[in-house]
Amino acid sequence: MILPGAASQSLAAALAAETNDALAVVERTRFADGEFKIRTDSVDDRAIIVASTVSSDAHIELLQLQDIASQHAEEVVTVLPYMGYGRQDEAFSAGEPVSARAIARAISTSTDRVLTVTPHEPDICECFDVPCESVDGAPLLADSLPENLSEPLFLAPDEGAIDLADAVRTAYGNGETDYFEKTRDHDTGEIELSPSETDAADRDVVVTDDIIATGSTMSKAIERLRTQDVGRVFAVCVHPMLAANARTKLEKAGIEAIYGTDTLERSVTTVSVAPVIADAL
Ligand code: R5P
Repeated sequence: MILPGAASQSLAAALAAETNDALAVVERTRFADGEFKIRTDSVDDRAIIVASTVSSDAHIELLQLQDIASQHAEEVVTVLPYMGYGRQDEAFSAGEPVSARAIARAISTSTDRVLTVTPHEPDICECFDVPCESVDGAPLLADSLPENLSEPLFLAPDEGAIDLADAVRTAYGNGETDYFEKTRDHDTGEIELSPSETDAADRDVVVTDDIIATGSTMSKAIERLRTQDVGRVFAVCVHPMLAANARTKLEKAGIEAIYGTDTLERSVTTVSVAPVIADAL
């Protein structure tokens, strides 16, 4: 049986269609003090919880779903399509927590295994106290791109994302891969991008990243490209967080289109990661 978190209902339904598992209906209300009260219909022997932890509320709901599941099921699998706090995988300065580890430990207490999708750092799985595996949603993004890209260049906004860009290029079946040099000031959040060495003139460019959060990285990349005479510029990412005014920043920078997966259910979501999750279950 698949138990959906509130933020992952479409993906949970897509996964249920892939695996033929039943989909639980989760009722959500609140106690008078604002705390969440949830209940679900019967849970069978294997419970698969699908919940992107996009907010503190989503984290609480996940722990509640795990508690229901662990009371009734013999096996509990926790699918984290998007793992919140996953990018705080180290203490960036003295006195800070490794938030990813703190969250992973809490999630580990009521599950037999964890499955996550394209984490920012693959090593994140080591933070869990139970077996954890990550699957890659990046190749699926190629399906959203137009078939007529002109001499496509798949650009990563930093060296760390080059494997993602290459995975999308390979799945697309045509083009070249390169990356920008990126530096971010951890105090101010300011980003600097140095141009890639590949000549992008007159070519369609697909900037590929694991996540678009504030949109600063992606919009800087697009602005850099727009100083050259490039063709269309597309932004693709596995996790289309698009926090605050990210969408507007990308429009102003001159984006042609944005495509993302359903690890985060947004208006730019064009493809489901359900098949790769189903394969790994
Ligand atoms: C950083 O290394 C990541 O791969 C992303 O480039 C970054 O987290 C995107 O964040 P933002 O949209 O806030 O620039």
